[in-house]
Amino acid sequence: MFFDDVKNRRSVRTFDGLGITDKLLEDLKEYAASVSNPYGIPVTFDFLDAKDNDLSSPVLKGEELYVTAKVKKVENADVAYGYSFESLLMHAVNKGLGTVWIGGTMPRDKFEKACNLADDEIMPCVSPIGFAADKMGVKEVLMRKGVKADSRYAFEELFFKNDFNTPLTEDEAEKMGIFSALEAVRLAPSAVNKQPWRVVVTENAVHFYEKKDRGYDNGTYDLQKVDLGIAINHFDFECNDGGKTVLFKVSNPGIAMPGDNYEYIASFEF
Ligand SMILES: Cc1cc2nc3c(=O)[nH]c(=O)nc-3n(C[C@H](O)[C@H](O)[C@H](O)COP(=O)(O)O)c2cc1C
Repeated sequence: MFFDDVKNRRSVRTFDGLGITDKLLEDLKEYAASVSNPYGIPVTFDFLDAKDNDLSSPVLKGEELYVTAKVKKVENADVAYGYSFESLLMHAVNKGLGTVWIGGTMPRDKFEKACNLADDEIMPCVSPIGFAADKMGVKEVLMRKGVKADSRYAFEELFFKNDFNTPLTEDEAEKMGIFSALEAVRLAPSAVNKQPWRVVVTENAVHFYEKKDRGYDNGTYDLQKVDLGIAINHFDFECNDGGKTVLFKVSNPGIAMPGDNYEYIASFEF
């Protein structure tokens, strides 16, 4: 079940050093070729052997394989990117593999060269893929503490009813049949665990907003919009898994936002 994978997932930064089988790699490549997103913006993946390409990251240990993802610099590329890349990473999680979104702590030039990034493309993030080591490394433990990786905002702090002044309770979400889909958003990974997603639920729709922190938008792409794409992916996949039909739409409902640092991103109607 998708929801079980969401609950069991964590970022993995210490790997067993053994790599993955050719069969698993083939499966990942096949899945990667089928990945899509509701924006219809193509995201392409490259699987790169760490040693052959001299790739590493200061926060990782024992990784043998990386996957990089590229997208053309178009409107909403960052949100679409988050959605598509998360599809692939959750597929890997479903196969028992460990992954971690890496958008900052890597020698970016080396990765961009290794995946032949074109001038009209961006490669905001990469991930190692492999089996987790039995024990987390000391660095990994410290890093998780530093960003409070095991905690999330409370349900009522992220999800609202009709406007941003009225928190949505778990019971209300349950009655609407969207509790697990919203919980899958709440448990999603995000850059520095900032959890920039906010959702306003109306009678027949959910509206996703970005609550921006400083320092994540470099002018070409916004890492917190990648976070929004991940959240939208989790909502969509969990609804599909539960047999709830939802329709993706970008249509601003005009709900008053709490501040200038909020931006409407997208909605699902049901
Ligand atoms: C877009 C994005 C970028 C990230 N960049 C990094 C990174 O550069 N280095 C790193 O160690 N972790 C990175 N992370 C992982 C987050 O720190 C992690 O998801 C968060 O702390 C929550 O922990 P969890 O994934 O174990 O639930 C990134 C996550 C996302 C979604």
